Amino acid sequence: MRIDILTLFPGAFESVLQSSLLGKALERGLLNVNISDIRKFTTDKHKTADDSPYGGGVGMVLKAEPVMQALENLKNKNSKVIVLTPRGKKLTGRMARKLAQEKHLILVCGHYEEIDDRFYQESKAEEISIGDYVLSGGEIPALVLIDTVARFIKGVVGKEKSVEGDSFENALLDFPHYTRPADFRGRGVPPTLMNGNHSQIDKFRRKESLRLTFFRRPDLLGEANLGKDDRALLQEILLD
Ligand code: ADE
Repeated sequence: MRIDILTLFPGAFESVLQSSLLGKALERGLLNVNISDIRKFTTDKHKTADDSPYGGGVGMVLKAEPVMQALENLKNKNSKVIVLTPRGKKLTGRMARKLAQEKHLILVCGHYEEIDDRFYQESKAEEISIGDYVLSGGEIPALVLIDTVARFIKGVVGKEKSVEGDSFENALLDFPHYTRPADFRGRGVPPTLMNGNHSQIDKFRRKESLRLTFFRRPDLLGEANLGKDDRALLQEILLD
């Protein structure tokens, strides 16, 4: 997959894209990320990318023309164009999994108050938000999107199983994890995890997943594909 990022702050991406899982995916060529500076597509000598809003009010508006030029410089018939904006559709794991199938994503990072609305009208870009809060620009949201999409690209996460088990993949929160030592400041590890019986361990983890989801995110349970065994576990949880 190729990802192009259009931004006024190209420096915002370096360290995150070089680190950890994403860094490795880039190194191994599983993902190819390129950054374009929107300011390069301005035409005046001051490289003006923003201007005050028609109608008045606070803040500045990102001009449509340089963003459109930057986009047209990269877009081809395989491109999916996404603007990161708080007014977009809220990003979910399901959306990320679908986006991971695309060949080419172009991520447009807004800044200032918003992008001139005519950019949206002209580009017909999809709009995605990472949550109901406002950040100062689309750079961090773009990184969030890239990180979660990359996890669904084959080979990026070591064992594919580890993506399947993650929170939200089954519309359930992930179960609690433990590692050595067996005693941490007097706190032990649930004995079932130490007994080597894998069917008991699976059942224990499923139950703890259900427990966390039930108490923290009951809204997710409605969407989860719960079987008879899950319902029995939920009964047990209510009696625990
Ligand atoms: N830009 C500013 N806030 C944002 C958000 N919550 N999601 C996506 N892009 C944004």
